[in-house]
Amino acid sequence: MHSLDRATPVVVAVDGPAAAGKTTTCVALAERFKLGYLESGRTYRLIAFEALRRGVLTRDQENLVSLCDELLRESRDQDLLTSDRYQSADLRSPSVNVAVSDVARIEDLRKRVTQLVRLWAERQSRCIVEGRDIGTVVFPAAPIKFYLTASPEVRARRRLDQEHRGSYEDVLKDVIRRDEADMSRSVSPLVPADDAITIDTTTLTIKEVLGRMSSVCESRSVTFS
Ligand code: DC
Repeated sequence: MHSLDRATPVVVAVDGPAAAGKTTTCVALAERFKLGYLESGRTYRLIAFEALRRGVLTRDQENLVSLCDELLRESRDQDLLTSDRYQSADLRSPSVNVAVSDVARIEDLRKRVTQLVRLWAERQSRCIVEGRDIGTVVFPAAPIKFYLTASPEVRARRRLDQEHRGSYEDVLKDVIRRDEADMSRSVSPLVPADDAITIDTTTLTIKEVLGRMSSVCESRSVTFS
């Protein structure tokens, strides 16, 4: 049995492509196992949102890093991760969906977000963090790593059912575009960690996915404090 070391703050790292069910499952596991929960993509999204709002071009990497530093100063660093100043609908708009891919490929910006996430995790006794590089880059020593995936068609359908925005064809196009952007970027591309448990959720219900993830958490002592 893999017992958890108190010095290892992250209990569960959850990565995978857009709309694979990471948020739904992470929120449920966080509640069930009393874990702190962090959606790391939200930070990349709010930087993209602020860039669009302040007229910073998303191909202007230098100014995006400056914007990130400015946001960090304004929000006292770590608070940026959990800031409630932003509406979820704004951060998930189609224009942010596009801009965030440019933001997420900037190495200096990723370093800052990675550091913030690590600092946040140090303050938690046990936590679950979702993203694209959590098990590979942010917490390579995380004792439990999941990689959730599903076919692009199923992910597009689920996203549409959840957000009721746009046509199926447009959502599918966006899912495929984001897969390509996340997987092909040179810095921290989306790949499963070697020691991640991959769950293809294409034909599974949320309940079944949660059942599998919970069994792993239980077998690896996440329930112990
Ligand atoms: O999880 P999400 O779809 O809200 O993430 C938004 C974007 O942020 C996504 O297109 C890729 C990027 N991201 C990332 O590069 N690394 C992370 N750890 C989390 C998200």
